[in-house]
Amino acid sequence: MMMIRENASAAETHSIKAVRDVFFRWNPDDYLREYYSRIEAEEEHTLRFLVEQCTRLPSAATVLEFGCGPTLHHVLPFAAHASLIHMADLLPQNLEAIRRWQMPGSCAHDWRPFTKRVLALEGLDATPDDIEHREQIMRKLITRRLRADARCARPLGLLTQRYDCVVSCYCADSATGDKREWQRMIENIVSLLAPGGRLLIAALRRCERYTVGAQSFPSARIDEDDLASLFSQLELRNTSIEIVAVPDRSTHGFESILLASATAPAIFAIALHSHRANQHGAVDLADR
Ligand SMILES: C[S@@+](CC[C@H](N)C(=O)[O-])C[C@H]1O[C@@H](n2cnc3c(N)ncnc32)[C@H](O)[C@@H]1O
Repeated sequence: MMMIRENASAAETHSIKAVRDVFFRWNPDDYLREYYSRIEAEEEHTLRFLVEQCTRLPSAATVLEFGCGPTLHHVLPFAAHASLIHMADLLPQNLEAIRRWQMPGSCAHDWRPFTKRVLALEGLDATPDDIEHREQIMRKLITRRLRADARCARPLGLLTQRYDCVVSCYCADSATGDKREWQRMIENIVSLLAPGGRLLIAALRRCERYTVGAQSFPSARIDEDDLASLFSQLELRNTSIEIVAVPDRSTHGFESILLASATAPAIFAIALHSHRANQHGAVDLADR
């Protein structure tokens, strides 16, 4: 298997520190207000993609959303397909937003318009009772909220669980302006797949910076060629990459998105993990 990991150079270490510093400025409330007060074009397409992809999962799949931010909507389609859902992110304040939503009666973001849309995309009724029922299922299915760092060879630290499906939307591409670091992050995220597991990715396409309020954050300027080449290097199978134009979003720094899926081969995890075990210089989440 061809691997793309290299030990971090001084310049890359600097870039890693820069990314960490960038995300100190992250405000979940600003993000939710700006991107999730209504269903924006990229989210309409992302939800449609996830609803379609869910139907191809094995029943009772174990699901990880990696880089969930303070959001719930991307796992809403998994209610009928998952036995458990874990939510992972770099920032505790994002995981706290998830925890608040899971606590009945607490003050949290209102995801009901998104739940309603997901039910409609699934061809189901979307009465207030149906919406409430779906959200109750989700509150129970989300059994863990995990600190994670995609820059680490073991992004979930000591947790060794591997998942039938890993969903990662606007995470690695939106966490760095460095394409090589983006590659390493995706490789680390992919390592969380069980053999034969399914990877579902949404990413900003050819974006340099995206805005959240007055702040702007780096993006890795990736496109379909970068993703296809990385999938090939990681020996992923059954790959598909969709390009979707969202021209109205140029004010936020992007005009198109990528929606991609791929499957890990049956022996993939074993090879990847034994490669990592022999690796020097890989940084673990517990070291940070
Ligand atoms: C643009 S937001 C996307 C959030 C959510 N997935 C969505 O679609 O709205 C990028 C997310 O990546 C997370 N993130 C940034 N760097 C990360 C890293 N190294 N490891 C894990 N998550 C990271 C941030 O905390 C943030 O929640």
